[in-house]
Formats: sequence, C-alpha cells, structure tokens
Amino acid sequence: MGRIALVTGGTRGIGEGTSIGLKEAGYTVVANYGGNDEAARAFTERTGIPAYKFDVSDFDAVQDGIRRIEAEIGPIEVLINNAGITRDGVMQKMTFERWNEVLQTNLSSCFNCSKAVIDGMRARKFGRIVNIGSVNGQAGQYGQVNYASAKSGIHGFTKALALEGARYGITVNAVAPGYVETEMVRAVPEDVLQKIVKGIPVGRLGRADDIARAVLFLVADNNDFMTGSTISINGGQHMY
Ligand code: CAA
Repeated sequence: MGRIALVTGGTRGIGEGTSIGLKEAGYTVVANYGGNDEAARAFTERTGIPAYKFDVSDFDAVQDGIRRIEAEIGPIEVLINNAGITRDGVMQKMTFERWNEVLQTNLSSCFNCSKAVIDGMRARKFGRIVNIGSVNGQAGQYGQVNYASAKSGIHGFTKALALEGARYGITVNAVAPGYVETEMVRAVPEDVLQKIVKGIPVGRLGRADDIARAVLFLVADNNDFMTGSTISINGGQHMY
C-alpha cells in the first residue's frame, strides 16, 4: 500500500486532478469534500477513491473526520490543503459573512487539517504538506479582498510551518495556480474571464493536471530538501 494522502476538496476541480494524479502514482488516496454529495459519489464511482464528508472550516469536524480516516484507512502522511471557495464582490458590497466564510474555508482549514496530522507526522519523522494558494493571493484581484487575503495567508502559513517541520522530516510547500478550468473559474462572468485569459501569455486557462504534476513533485519521498517554497503555475500571468 502506498503512502496515504488526503486531498481536501478532493472530488472536484484541482482537487480531483490531484487525487487522480496521486492515485496513478501509487499513493493510497482519500478525498475530502464539503457538500456536493452527488459529485462525490460520481467521483468515487469513477476513480475508486473514497470520499469523506466534513467541513474543513469547522475545527471539531476536521479533527473527527481525520480521526475517522486514520482509523479506517491508516495514518495520513501526505496532506494536500486544497479546499477553497470564492465569494467575490467589491468591498462596498462585501458582507462580513462573505469575508469570514472565505477566510475560514480557505485559510483556517489549513490550520484545522494540519493540526490534526502534525503530531503523527512528527512522531513518524515524515510528512508532506502542500497548500494550494493562488495567483490572486500573490498579485491581488479586483473583487477578492477576502480570497486574496486568505490565499496570501496560505503563503505565510506555508513558510512558518515549514520552519517548524524541518527537523522532523516534514516538508511544507505551496502551489500557486493561476486561472484553471474548473467550476470556480467558469463562474467568473464571461466578459471578465475573456479579459483575464487575454492577460495570460500562454494563451489558455490551466488544467487540473498542470497543478497535480507540481503537487506530485513536491510530495515525493526524495524531495526532502525543498520546503517553504511556492511553485507558481499560471501560464506566465504573474511572475515574481
Ligand atoms: N480593475 C479595475 N476596475 C475594474 C476591474 C478591474 N479588474 N473590474 C471591474 N472594474 C470596474 C468596472 O469597470 C466598473 O467600473 P464602472 O462602475 O466605472 O463602470 C466597476 O469596477 C464595477 O464593476 P462590475 O460592474 O463588474 O462590478 P460587480 O460588482 O458587478 O462585479 C466583480 C465585480 C464581482 C469583482 C466582477 O467583476 C468579477 O467577478 N470579477 C472577477 C473576479 C475574479 O477574477 N475572480 C476569480 C475567481 S476564480 C479564482 O479565484 C481562482 C483563482 O485562484 C485564480
């Protein structure tokens, strides 16, 4: 049995691509999902990957959910903090609820899930954590003070936890995707999206497997000197 990898939000979008990529590479993959039972059922049927439902923004639900996975499947050695949502809107129209929902789901989730696995990783002296950031956390985006803050927070979270994990064989890295063909990006108004695609030098949206390849590289057993890094994959839209 390959190392056990948990992908949050792992049944759709970038998470789905990552779950499948990890499975094809020999990992024992478990996907988490938050709400869409129908998509999760279809995903498991298609891929054979079990899907566990819990809300990553809820600290207690995460601790319970991860305990359940560890009891039923085994210790989580690879954690991909991928789950995320958008609640776009300019500041004047953004409510506290929309701000908070995105911060809790996209950023506090990284704390909640990492907290549930870190003791085991330290004890076993091995762990791989990859956090999915965003070009919009690096560059900012009109209408996304919530999302950009959460994703930018992920990049800080990654570096701080990398320092703490280094002595224990735990690497913590991030991937910062650009605009990838997912339901999330398809929800951007068509005219706005067209303008965004015009600003991508490679001339297309990304694909989930463009991101999954980087995750696979980061979690490899022999990739143990790379930690606290962010790999940007955005078709040249933003370079820094
Ligand atoms: N820069 C400057 N001005 C802008 C602008 C921009 N990027 N976008 C819009 N504006 C201006 C408009 O021109 C308009 O100006 P006027 O009032 O003078 O005409 C004003 O702002 C209001 O614009 P809208 O009518 O579009 O405002 P809205 O409230 O209806 O919608 C919005 C605002 C929700 C932010 C909408 O523009 C939008 O959805 N933008 C896309 C946001 C986006 O990229 N989200 C990414 C989602 S995918 C994702 O996040 C994944 C990932 O990691 C990459």
